Amino acid sequence: MNIAIVGTGYVGLVSGTCFAELGNTVICVDNNAKKIEDLNKGIIPIYEPGLEELVAKNRKEKRLFFTNDMKTAVEKSKVIFIAVGTPPKLDGDADLKYIEQVSRDVARYMNNYKVVVEKSTVPVQTNKWVKYIMRLNNHKVDFDVASNPEFLKEGSAIEDFMHPDRVVLGVESEKARKLLVKLYEPLKAPIVVTNIQSAEIIKHASNSFLATKISFINAVANVCEQVGADIEKVAEGMGLDKRIGSSFLKAGIGYGGSCFPKDVQAFIRIAQSLGCNFDILKEVEKVNENQRKLVFKKIEQALWILNDKKIGVLGIAFKPNTDDLRSAPAIDIINMLEAEGAHVKAFDPKAMAHAKELLPNVDFCKNAYEAIKGCDALVLITEWPEFKKLSLTKIKKLLKHPIVIDARNMFDPAKMRKLGFKYFDIGRPKA
Ligand SMILES: NC(=O)c1ccc[n+]([C@@H]2O[C@H](COP(=O)([O-])OP(=O)(O)OC[C@H]3O[C@@H](n4cnc5c(N)ncnc54)[C@H](O)[C@@H]3O)[C@@H](O)[C@H]2O)c1
Repeated sequence: MNIAIVGTGYVGLVSGTCFAELGNTVICVDNNAKKIEDLNKGIIPIYEPGLEELVAKNRKEKRLFFTNDMKTAVEKSKVIFIAVGTPPKLDGDADLKYIEQVSRDVARYMNNYKVVVEKSTVPVQTNKWVKYIMRLNNHKVDFDVASNPEFLKEGSAIEDFMHPDRVVLGVESEKARKLLVKLYEPLKAPIVVTNIQSAEIIKHASNSFLATKISFINAVANVCEQVGADIEKVAEGMGLDKRIGSSFLKAGIGYGGSCFPKDVQAFIRIAQSLGCNFDILKEVEKVNENQRKLVFKKIEQALWILNDKKIGVLGIAFKPNTDDLRSAPAIDIINMLEAEGAHVKAFDPKAMAHAKELLPNVDFCKNAYEAIKGCDALVLITEWPEFKKLSLTKIKKLLKHPIVIDARNMFDPAKMRKLGFKYFDIGRPKA
């Protein structure tokens, strides 16, 4: 099938490449000229395991193309996915200006029947606006709007796209249903077909539910910490219950990234605007914000005065295996440390190039040991697997004081204490 993906970011680039891998001819469009120029030279703008190879393979086999030319992309495609960003506005509403721009452009260039699919995460009823804007800009050509929310996770995006738990299709015509089911059939995943409003809500509700699980376990961790209970065991004991499940029950510094914070906010806002109370999600947000403050408080507990202290931070990306810094907890922690007059040395395996722009005062180091060397304390913020393999005795030697604040419960507390560290973690017994 000939398809176009508008917006060549984390979702657009991965989806486009995977659709090409499935045998479709895919044109990825972006209005960022540099991005397209780079992609046409084989330079991948994001870090995502396996993506570079898959892009190269499908470009070589002439199934994957990158362009700024929206007109040609629209004209040549039967199905057009919108995968542009939907960032939060200051009031928490999703900013839909890119969706509106693309709806206008696609409509203008439509030469025959198209299915225009919202793949971006959007508030319920966005489809009505997309349809309205498209009709305003083109009243001649027949089209359908559909919703196909994306559930891939950065860091395992290709695997998630190719082996999804489910595919959700929100459609309102048999023609659109047939085309989209055909596109996704090769994945052999369960396909949930529903109306467009339901599909839009499924995405917001899923992300909000996962964020709720994270905040829930963090709130439980704080109770554990007061009474000497162990959150890891509590989570294990809860998670083995099939009705609860063990995923997303990991206590730590809370969620960040480009999706959960903005999607929870946007879901609260759209529910409010529809006259529905969703205060439970406001509490989810509150717990999440407090979790960052709690980690900062632990750093203060360990060092008292932070002015002129040297702090080594490991991990800046919002989670391992990505270079995405959007709403990354490390950014907040580093800003809080610098506001108190601390000097930060940091290392992240993939996110440092972007981080340098956001954190100009941080001393970025070439490896984890360099970042730790001579520091008053080490703060571990992102659980990159390679950090687990670091030599604890070497860390102890390199630090000025053997203080570790572990915001992800990565290390074994008993071992840390045995080695003589002052070790601060989340929700686990102190001895
Ligand atoms: N990142 C994720 O893990 C993830 C997962 C599931 C869903 N989503 C959702 O998917 C959407 C895209 O997210 P992302 O992380 O890929 O965003 P992104 O910021 O990485 O990419 C968006 C791209 O759209 C391009 N763009 C913006 N306006 C354009 C226009 N008018 N014409 C052409 N291109 C335009 C931008 O240049 C950019 O390259 C969001 O709604 C997000 O919530 C993201």
